[in-house]
Amino acid sequence: MKVVAIASYKGGVGKTTLTANIGAAIARLGKRVLMIDLDPQANLTFSFYPAEVWRLELADQRRTVKAWFESWRPDTTPPPLAGYVTTPPTAAEVIAPGGGRLDLLASHLALGDVEMDLTARLGGAQAHRSTRHYFEVYERLATGLASFDAQPYGARPYDLVVIDCPPHFGVVTRAAIAACDHVLVPARPDLLSTLGVEHLLGKIGRFVWEYNRVGELQSGVHPAVKRLDPRVLGVVFMMVQYYRGRPTSFLRRHIDQITELGVPTFTSMIRSSHRSFAGTGDAYLPAVLSPDTPYDVACELVDLVEEFLRRLGASGLGEGGIGDWRGEI
Ligand SMILES: Nc1ncnc2c1ncn2[C@@H]1O[C@H](COP(=O)(O)OP(=O)(O)OP(=O)(O)O)[C@@H](O)[C@H]1O
Ligand SMILES: [Mg+2]
Repeated sequence: MKVVAIASYKGGVGKTTLTANIGAAIARLGKRVLMIDLDPQANLTFSFYPAEVWRLELADQRRTVKAWFESWRPDTTPPPLAGYVTTPPTAAEVIAPGGGRLDLLASHLALGDVEMDLTARLGGAQAHRSTRHYFEVYERLATGLASFDAQPYGARPYDLVVIDCPPHFGVVTRAAIAACDHVLVPARPDLLSTLGVEHLLGKIGRFVWEYNRVGELQSGVHPAVKRLDPRVLGVVFMMVQYYRGRPTSFLRRHIDQITELGVPTFTSMIRSSHRSFAGTGDAYLPAVLSPDTPYDVACELVDLVEEFLRRLGASGLGEGGIGDWRGEI
């Protein structure tokens, strides 16, 4: 099971769009994919469920990531995540015939309460890292994901977990970093996004260092804590403006700036297409599954997913490549 956190410091750069499309594309290849919506805006959740269905069938039934976080009691292991997961029906109709599965751990508009509770548990935003609840908070999501390996959930656990993070580096985002083995960073080709990438990677680096250091210091009390070593899979440029069929030269400058930081960038990128991404709200299908997606955008999505699998070392996702799929678009 590979776990990829999709994170950025800046809002509106395409985290949710990437999570939905990468998750759906790989599920359509016959893999088992879990998407986790960690953002209280719940945009990922609402891209698969109408608000009323979310309220009645998920929020009221306590099938959200908020309910899972809140069901935990001190000094116990978190309850298995499987009981909180749902399968969005419109996407399942397209995906199931290929043998894949696309599940969602939905968010909740009040997920901010969890952020506050966890921060309080740590002893506040400026908490010293020696707090005794450090791993209880930061290891919780990783422990939840490990529960899929431990129980018979269908025939086998997920091949891939993609986590849609909120646009800041709070406790919940840090718990996602502690649970993932790769980070994917979407960015728009503009100066603020470039600065945001640098800031995010600095924050991740410091958190990983701190986590491993606390692990050493508390090794007597928490001998089983795993050292973190998440890899940056790369920066993906989203909403790229094209001029006469090619990305504007402006883009090159931003790619160079990010490369100079020593960060890998994806060759594939996604053009700005309001029709494909912003206008599909009522279909509850990501662009990669929609028959209405224009051919050029569909090709860019396929290229991106191919590159994602290559960079991830797709062997971990089981046999079977993306080869036949291109014929379907
Ligand atoms: N390639 C694209 N072309 C045009 N619009 C896009 C594209 N990708 C995403 N969008 C739209 O841009 C908006 C922001 O995208 P998205 O929600 O994926 O960003 P985000 O990083 O998750 O935002 P937030 O930080 O608020 O969670 C959405 O309305 C989305 O539909
Ligand atoms: Mg989002």
